[in-house]
Amino acid sequence: MRDMKVLVTGGSGRTGRLVAEAAAAAGLGVRAVSRSAAVPFDWDDRSTWAAALDGVDAAYLAYYSDIGAPTAADAIGALARQAVASGVRRLVLLSARGEELALPAERALGESGADWTILRCSWFAQNFSEGPLLEAVRGGELAFPAGEIREPFIDARDIADVVVTALTDERHSGRVYELTGPRLLTWREAVAEVSRATGQEIHYVPVPVRDYATVMREIGMPDPEVEFLTALFTDLLDGHNARLADGVRQVLGREPRDFTAFARTDAAAGTWKG
Ligand SMILES: NC(=O)c1ccc[n+]([C@@H]2O[C@H](COP(=O)([O-])OP(=O)(O)OC[C@H]3O[C@@H](n4cnc5c(N)ncnc54)[C@H](OP(=O)(O)O)[C@@H]3O)[C@@H](O)[C@H]2O)c1
Repeated sequence: MRDMKVLVTGGSGRTGRLVAEAAAAAGLGVRAVSRSAAVPFDWDDRSTWAAALDGVDAAYLAYYSDIGAPTAADAIGALARQAVASGVRRLVLLSARGEELALPAERALGESGADWTILRCSWFAQNFSEGPLLEAVRGGELAFPAGEIREPFIDARDIADVVVTALTDERHSGRVYELTGPRLLTWREAVAEVSRATGQEIHYVPVPVRDYATVMREIGMPDPEVEFLTALFTDLLDGHNARLADGVRQVLGREPRDFTAFARTDAAAGTWKG
């Protein structure tokens, strides 16, 4: 393990950045890649894949834009086969929990000949602190089509710890884990936690998914993407994921971090200051 080098895709993204940090802290060599990295890697440009895979022992795969996107299975399968052919057998895939559309990508990995681990994750706590929803939270009003359903938000720091363990310990080979946080919260309760931690007034406004689609179109999102996200949200936000899973405990032997701790840590770091 001491001389092991790992490839981290989405290296500047929500999970990839934390995976790269956790892997480095564990003493692994790290090649963190994305389109803008020193070693550029683009899921849509296969000419970039060989350099990314060169000389690494294992890889973390975080597909962009979504593991359930129509292009995901083909890309994951092709990258996994190329990885195996170039001697990178150990692959850990970030997948999504209760997402029917993610299954083709998982199958493509399974059929690649790789030595794989699949991590089906719940919604990240970091959706409130990074990415497209951050500005709305900072602005004091998050409109989102999640009604009053409950979700066990997971702190991406826990995903990163699980990924590093799965990359380095072959006992996790061939295993599918469901990773969730320790508590079910509605979007309203999660936003209230952020509000309490920051001392800022922040409100959650549930909106119908068709209204959310209209907003996505108005801000210029292409139609196929709007259609995909509308289908994804309709499926994922119907409440069927309102249950806890014990994947973090199975892999790490400890409980996952709680949302309150996430909100306090990020509030102290100034994440939600405008
Ligand atoms: N968000 C959630 O709650 C959640 C839950 C479960 C599973 N997931 C899964 O997590 C994965 C990542 O989603 P995320 O929303 O958290 O995104 P993210 O990892 O934060 O995505 C951004 C990262 O991807 C890179 N990137 C963007 N386009 C790329 C491309 N064409 N090729 C290579 N790298 C690219 C970005 O860097 P550059 O711009 O430099 O390329 C950046 O490093 C998805 O497969 C999603 O299904 C998400």
